[in-house]
Amino acid sequence: MAKPLISPSLLSANFANLQADIQQINRSEADWLHIDVMDGVFVPNISFGFPVLKYVAELTEKPLDVHLMIVNPEKFIKEVKDLGTMMMNVHYEACIHLHRVVQQIKDAGMKAAVTLNPSTPVAMLTDIIRDVDMVLLMSVNPGFGGQKFITHTLDKVRELRELIARTGSQALIEVDGGVNLETGKLLVEAGADVLVAGNAVFKAPDMGEMIHKLKNL
Ligand code: DX5
Ligand code: ZN
Repeated sequence: MAKPLISPSLLSANFANLQADIQQINRSEADWLHIDVMDGVFVPNISFGFPVLKYVAELTEKPLDVHLMIVNPEKFIKEVKDLGTMMMNVHYEACIHLHRVVQQIKDAGMKAAVTLNPSTPVAMLTDIIRDVDMVLLMSVNPGFGGQKFITHTLDKVRELRELIARTGSQALIEVDGGVNLETGKLLVEAGADVLVAGNAVFKAPDMGEMIHKLKNL
C-alpha cells in the first residue's frame, strides 16, 4: 500500500498564534496544508478569508490545498490563485456549471478538485471525473472540525476507486473529516490517497509525530 499524502487542516490550529503552528507544519512530514474557507451560507460557520490567508500563505512552505465551502466559488478563482494555491477544491453542490468552473480553475494554473458532501453520491461525478485532478470526499458534514467520521465514506472511497479505474481518470482521492489513526488506516485500505486531518494533528501533543504516524499507518 502506498503511503498517503497528509494535508493538516488549519481550521484546528491556534488562531491566536498561527505562525507557531504553521512553523511546526513546515518542519513536519506533512505534504500539503489544507485551508477551509467558509461563508456562513453554504455551511453554518465562518472561518477566515483572504486577508488572513495572505499571511498564512507567506509563512507556509507546503503546497496549499484550499477547500472552499462557499457559494459561487468561481468568483474567487483569482484570489485563490494569488495565494499561490496548488489545489483548489470546489463543492459539487455549490456549482451549477461545474465543468466550466473546473476549466476556469485549470486555466488559472491550479489543479482542480471537486468535493462531495456526505449525502452526494459518487455517481454524480461520472461525467466530470476525467477532467479533475482530485475528488475530495467529505466524511463529516462540512462546517466544523472535530466531528465524528461517517463510516459510509469507506464505501464511497471504494466506489470512487472503481470509477477512476474504469474511466482511466488520474484523479486522486482525498478524504476530510474525523480522520485519525484508526479511521485513517481504514481509508488507506479502502483506497484513499490523501488524508486531511484537523483535530488529530493540531490537538496532538506532538504534531510532527502524529503526522509521521498518519503517513505510516
Ligand atoms: C470541515 C473541514 C475539515 C475540518 C476537519 O468542514 O472541511 O477540513 O477541518 O477537521 P477534523 O479533522 O477535526 O474533523
Ligand atoms: Zn476541509
